[in-house]
Amino acid sequence: MIEFGKFYQQIALGPLASWLEVLPAQLAAWQRENLHGHFRNWQKTVDNLPLLTPQQLDLQQRVSADRDDLSERQRQGIEKLLRNLMPWRKGPYSLYGTHIDTEWRSDWKWDRVLPHISPLTDRTVLDVGCGSGYHMWRMVGAGAALVVGIDPTQLFLCQFEAVRKLLGGDTRAHLLPLGIEQLPELKAFDTVFSMGVLYHRRSPLDHLFQLKNQLVSGGELVLETLVIEGDEHDVLVPGERYAQMRNVWFIPSAPALSRWLEKCGFVDVRIVDFSRTSTEEQRRTDWMTTESLADFLDPHDSSKTLEGYPAPLRAVLVARKP
Ligand SMILES: C[S@@+](CC[C@H](N)C(=O)[O-])C[C@H]1O[C@@H](n2cnc3c(N)ncnc32)[C@H](O)[C@@H]1O
Repeated sequence: MIEFGKFYQQIALGPLASWLEVLPAQLAAWQRENLHGHFRNWQKTVDNLPLLTPQQLDLQQRVSADRDDLSERQRQGIEKLLRNLMPWRKGPYSLYGTHIDTEWRSDWKWDRVLPHISPLTDRTVLDVGCGSGYHMWRMVGAGAALVVGIDPTQLFLCQFEAVRKLLGGDTRAHLLPLGIEQLPELKAFDTVFSMGVLYHRRSPLDHLFQLKNQLVSGGELVLETLVIEGDEHDVLVPGERYAQMRNVWFIPSAPALSRWLEKCGFVDVRIVDFSRTSTEEQRRTDWMTTESLADFLDPHDSSKTLEGYPAPLRAVLVARKP
């Protein structure tokens, strides 16, 4: 059974305490509505995983954990349970001999982001749209005091809780099954990440305001999203689909996105990275066996999506709330 009581206790006396006015009721409602179907089975899988304290733990260079005293049978049992939680999209994870080769090399994204942001040491961090929480563990590895991720997708919560158990029940990171629109204006996080979310939002400027409302004064926003090439006037509004995704609303150029950030009141806006998503970074694997990027690109011209739009280009922007 996934519970949030420890998190409530942890934030009760700190800067996130005011969240307790709404959060327990929101999550209780969520739990009442999610008592059935796949979620129940995924929860059982999490329950069946052992709570293991790693003897070797690395959250700085990768997410990996191991112990010397596990039998081959125990290792196989762990792999079998982790496979019940497929598809695994964000990772990779290396857990007691099981290498979860996820659809995405999320570690490559982290390597592009980390050199450009303020050190996370002792910071309180929010990761909006955190997926299975891969980057959250890397944030812990980079020294964050507390990392809160929000993501409304049930499977990702179960994957996160499975990994947490195999990391010894680490309470430096917590995933809450919420959408950004459910957050009150907490103004309490030192760093807020929004990675891979903006283009899914119907109102991207409202998204930027929502992110700003989570930051303390002087706090840092780290924004990673799809962009197009172009100047501050260029924004792509795709038709029904972009790279087969139905829920892509706006893809601005990086200069246009900088302007949006400034318009929303951010300062010191920096474009720190561009990267064309490759079919090595996003691909079908043994842990995500359905279609992936190669199937979403024009087979005759990989610089275009199937729909004829520019193939995925991503940018990282960093900005400060005054
Ligand atoms: C493309 S993934 C990005 C995952 C991860 N941040 C990364 O960069 O690899 C977008 C994530 O946003 C989540 N999401 C969808 N709607 C959301 C919402 N309203 N609020 C927060 N997250 C949301 C999805 O479940 C999904 O995990």
